[in-house]
Amino acid sequence: MMGNIIAVHSYKGGTGKTLLSVNLASTYAKRGRNICLFDLDFRAPSLHAAFKAEGNGYWLNDYLNGTCDIKKVLIELNPRIKGSGRLFVGLANPATEAIREMSAKDRKWEMRALGRLLSLKTSLFNDIHLDHIIFDTSPGLQYSSINAIVSADVAVVVSSLDASDIKGTQRMTHELYDLFEKKTGIILNKVLAGIMSTPSKKKALLEKLRVIHNLPIIDIIPCFCEVLEAGGTYVFTVERPEHPFTAILNEVATKVENLTSSSFQQVHATA
Ligand SMILES: Nc1ncnc2c1ncn2[C@@H]1O[C@H](COP(=O)(O)OP(=O)(O)O)[C@@H](O)[C@H]1O
Ligand SMILES: [Mg+2]
Repeated sequence: MMGNIIAVHSYKGGTGKTLLSVNLASTYAKRGRNICLFDLDFRAPSLHAAFKAEGNGYWLNDYLNGTCDIKKVLIELNPRIKGSGRLFVGLANPATEAIREMSAKDRKWEMRALGRLLSLKTSLFNDIHLDHIIFDTSPGLQYSSINAIVSADVAVVVSSLDASDIKGTQRMTHELYDLFEKKTGIILNKVLAGIMSTPSKKKALLEKLRVIHNLPIIDIIPCFCEVLEAGGTYVFTVERPEHPFTAILNEVATKVENLTSSSFQQVHATA
């Protein structure tokens, strides 16, 4: 079976895309899946820090610039994630100059970059047996994020309960994602535990969000002090297997895989 690409995106910044991408990738690897996680947030590269990974001299920037092959960029992280699957990461260059340079790219460059993202599927899925490629993206509607969504099979949009985030997410998915006919699911993250302290409260919130977004709500994830405290210094689900966040991520991982294997029509009918 051919693997698929999952883009993790959001309207606003700081909603938890990187945290969820890293922990989803690790959860899948723990299950024996082969995963490739790409840092496509060229404005605020994060994965090098999340995995304490040194660059190997080749960045995703170079691949998108057309100056190196994708396989040069990939760094295998297996030994650190205690999983039976393989975990590769492709890092974005965190140097100030590189960030500036990527922010100044024109549309023509972005079109070529889109071509390179689209060709990842044939090059990577054929050479390495990958189950999923996960894209951690920049928030908002800039070209680089749109490219990531266009080249993905499934989009996972992470939103907070903040009113501006809900409105923005709603507009973004309806004006943009619908246009691409992209299978989409929403994750509400950093929700105060009190808002869903009982199963019936959680159910009511899920229902409300389903109506607002007219899309499947993958899950509602509470804000956990321990996750905040960890500050991205370690992969939470790997180091804290007993924590409720890890249990939720397990469910999220299964639901996202279900989304990848459903059809576009199914996704939109169940919403
Ligand atoms: N469910 C959560 N509980 C507590 N802290 C969270 C949760 N989700 C994300 N965070 C924290 O919020 C901050 C922003 O998360 P991050 O993944 O960097 O967001 P993004 O990549 O969308 O900008 C980080 O400090 C992260 O640890
Ligand atoms: Mg991020």
